Amino acid sequence: MAPRTTDVPATAPATAPAPLVDRYGRVHTDLRISLTDRCNLRCTYCMPAEGLDWLPRGQTLDDDELLRLARIAVHRLGLRTLRLTGGEPLLRRGLPALLARLAELGAELSLTTNGIGLARRAAELKHAGLHRVNVSLDTLRPERYAALTRRDRLVDVLAGLAAAKAAGLEPVKVNAVPVRGVNEDELVDLVEFAVAGGYRMRFIESMPLDAQGAWDRTAMVTAAEVLEVLGSRWRLVPIGRHGNAPAEEWRLAGTDHVVGVIASVTRPFCGGCDRVRLTADGQLRNCLFATEESDLRALLRSGADDARIERAWRDCVAGKSPGHRIGDADFVRPDRPMSAIGG
Ligand code: 5AD
Ligand code: SF4
Repeated sequence: MAPRTTDVPATAPATAPAPLVDRYGRVHTDLRISLTDRCNLRCTYCMPAEGLDWLPRGQTLDDDELLRLARIAVHRLGLRTLRLTGGEPLLRRGLPALLARLAELGAELSLTTNGIGLARRAAELKHAGLHRVNVSLDTLRPERYAALTRRDRLVDVLAGLAAAKAAGLEPVKVNAVPVRGVNEDELVDLVEFAVAGGYRMRFIESMPLDAQGAWDRTAMVTAAEVLEVLGSRWRLVPIGRHGNAPAEEWRLAGTDHVVGVIASVTRPFCGGCDRVRLTADGQLRNCLFATEESDLRALLRSGADDARIERAWRDCVAGKSPGHRIGDADFVRPDRPMSAIGG
């Protein structure tokens, strides 16, 4: 085999890279990159009112470091989609310039945001090369939104959604986490809102990833419950899953509208998982629930070449566990909360 050069060329290699595969044969094609652990909301199911101890600036990857890892991911490991997350990724300084550089890699680029500030920035992000957005929205009632996120910003999010649609960041998906006694009475309203706005509604089961450790299975609204409620309003025609996508989808009969349910807890989709995650401080995680990480930042900063980083990446994925074990007696929560992993 020809020796590899240290720098990966800016253009894609002529031959397809070997797949990034774990010992169960799962091929990984999707990289989620957390751009910051900071957030401008304080959703009660995610973090405490006072926020968290954010990563100090020197610990987070800078744009050049992040670009280098993304280039290795796309060119050497065959990853095809890059999903940018947070905390809140719109808080990352210089995001449009970073997006433009990521776009040159040729992967599909999406962003998961809480929508604050999106109204002002959607067109610019589209122009930089972003393909689509997922916007988190758990309630349509202003007081409830203020209580749930501890910030009175519903109007901004609604404007952000409209701007994303107008900018062509499509499909615009709306993510809601239904929680018992909080917003479970809004499932139908949320779908009607999405239908009217031309967004794609998705409901996500709440997972034990809050920073406070307060997750309670009985407060989680299950996918089955969501489907039962929606099924009493619409006839739901099953579509299934797109490839390895976590969402199972249903069409509202007689319309083109699609609703998705992500049943991470009650119907885990670990068997088809194709995701790997990079935290804002450059730690590679082979699972949301992983209890170990691979320190790519240390490799980067110690001068490792691309082949060395590729090897660390492949080793990390090889060791991926077959599935999360939420609900098992010996389930161990990961050290990082969702907001520091990136969802
Ligand atoms: N369980 C499920 N989803 C969560 N999110 C945040 N915390 C949790 C949790 N504990 C959601 C956000 C957002 C996406 C990134 O993950 O609401 O839509
Ligand atoms: Fe921020 Fe998302 Fe956590 Fe809400 S759920 S506090 S928007 S990171």
